[in-house]
Amino acid sequence: MDEIVAIYPGSFDPITNGHLDLIERGSLIFNQLIVAVLTNLEKNPLFSVAERVEMLREATRSIPNVSVDTFSGLLVDYARQKHARALLRGIRAFTDYEYELQMALMNRKLEPELETVFLMPALAYTYVSSRLVREVFQLGGSVNGLVPPQVEERLHQKVFQGKP
Ligand code: PNS
Repeated sequence: MDEIVAIYPGSFDPITNGHLDLIERGSLIFNQLIVAVLTNLEKNPLFSVAERVEMLREATRSIPNVSVDTFSGLLVDYARQKHARALLRGIRAFTDYEYELQMALMNRKLEPELETVFLMPALAYTYVSSRLVREVFQLGGSVNGLVPPQVEERLHQKVFQGKP
């Protein structure tokens, strides 16, 4: 049987331990997992695309079948280009479901042969999101244990040392 390539798309601003947990789970299911950072983000990101890619690469370095890339435009076009059979997305709580269902069904309408596979992160990360990590950290709270250590370090540099 052919190798199954899957894409885990997202903004990853920044990567959290919830994302990492999902990447580890996905890497055990798919032959190749491409973590793909959306470059034309409508939101105003804290980290540049290059920084987000670097943090993802650092955090996933020890997982051989995981690679990190960027994409712009339609996700289904990028998936076609990579010969991917599946999209990987995480569902933390019921509140994620509606948004994820809409995206999965729209992507299926655009490319019926591409399946979206949902995985649940470990229970300990079900409340963790990049948005909350940014907010808590910027307001002086601790995000220890919620993001990889190198991400915590980068948050320090970005927020408190004003590094561009
Ligand atoms: O981490 P996010 O911000 O929830 O990820 C959203 C993402 C990047 C998966 C989504 O916005 C996306 O796929 N954008 C690419 C444009 C596209 O294909 N839009 C139609 C998808 S329904």
